[in-house]
Formats: sequence, structure tokens, C-alpha cells
Amino acid sequence: MKKSLLCLLLASLLALPVLADDEIRLPAPQKSGGMPLLEALNARKTSRRTTGEPPTLQQLADVLWAANGVTRADGKRTAPSAMNRQEIEIAVLTRDGLYEWDADDNELDRSDTTIDLSDQLNGASMMLIFTYDDDDQTPAYAQVDCGFVGQNVYLFCTSKGWNCVFLGSIDRAKLARALDCREGEVLYGMRIGIR
Ligand SMILES: Cc1cc2nc3c(=O)[nH]c(=O)nc-3n(C[C@H](O)[C@H](O)[C@H](O)COP(=O)(O)O)c2cc1C
Repeated sequence: MKKSLLCLLLASLLALPVLADDEIRLPAPQKSGGMPLLEALNARKTSRRTTGEPPTLQQLADVLWAANGVTRADGKRTAPSAMNRQEIEIAVLTRDGLYEWDADDNELDRSDTTIDLSDQLNGASMMLIFTYDDDDQTPAYAQVDCGFVGQNVYLFCTSKGWNCVFLGSIDRAKLARALDCREGEVLYGMRIGIR
């Protein structure tokens, strides 16, 4: 136990791509710097060349915070949401496994799924999977809210010089089984390639 905590601490400090434990406390996200917004808007584009290095914990913390992280004391986020329901959940698929992001605690919780999702990752550095709880939100609002999160990720990746693609074409049935949710609650995915 002590040894694995020490490994995790060292990995975080050295920003090594180690994702072994069931609950991973992410480092504080970097909230300053980056490309000027208007330049990022001008440069934003879809790139399907998403093969790349696995993410470090810092890179995970940064992209997730940009996507839909907490920005205010009242818990509001980088992305707006209809009626402030904040229903969009983000799961992260890497070569190490599938994790669910807890935005409030800045933590990744490892899924115990044994389903092979490598065809969904398709060699990317990571894939974000956007889901929602359909008890909490209507599908139309969830689709829109997800679009805002996706655009945040596009702009963040542009700023970093990473490749990314927003994906409607994903295996929702398989991802739903892995995430233990209903197929209709799996909205979109986003593959990211770190360069
Ligand atoms: C809702 C939505 C679903 C998309 N699904 C896919 C997809 O399944 N596969 C893919 O290669 N690109 C997908 N894209 C990316 C679009 O093809 C891309 O945004 C479009 O060609 C315009 O290019 P740009 O993003 O560089 O402006 C999707 C985009 C959106 C907004």
C-alpha cells in the first residue's frame, strides 16, 4: 500500500503516465497561459491523426478541467449547462483502462470493466466519452450541453497543439456496458492525440 502510494506520488511529481490505482487524485489543473482565444478559434480544426503518447496525470487534469471543470465557489463549470443541471459526465479511456472523472474532487475512478475497448481508443493518446444521466436532463439539452464541453476540448487541444476529433460514430452499446449505463446515455466521444 505504502509502496503504491509512493509510486503514485513520484509519478505525479515527475508527470509520468502511470494510471494504476483505483482512485487517482489528479494534480491541480493549469489555469493560465495557453494560446490567445482568438488565435485558438482561428486554428481549431478536427484532426483524425490521434495516435500519440499516453497522457500524464497533469495532462489529464488540464484537459478535463478545460472540458468541464469547476470554476466557481458555487460549483459552476467551464461549460454552461441547461438549468445548471451539470449532467455531462466524462469518462477517460487510455491504454491503461477506463476511468470516470469526478470533477468536484478532481479524481479519476478506475472502472473494473473487463470489456476490451481498444477498438474505441484506436491508438489515440486518450478518448473522452461524454455521458449523461437521463433522469436528470432531457436529451435535447444534454446534446447541446455536450457540444459546449466538446468545443472546450477542441480549443484546449488547439492551444496545446494536440490533435482531436469529436465523434458521433462510436460503439454506444459497448461503451454503455463498460460504463454501466444505458446506451442512450452515451452521447459522444472525443479522441485526442498528444504530439
Ligand atoms: C456532432 C458531431 C459528430 C461528429 N462525428 C464524427 C465522427 O463520427 N467521425 C469523424 O471523423 N468526425 C466527426 N465529427 C467531426 C466533423 O466531421 C468535423 O467537425 C467537420 O468535418 C468539420 O471539420 P472541422 O471540425 O475541422 O471544422 C463530428 C462532429 C460533430 C459536431
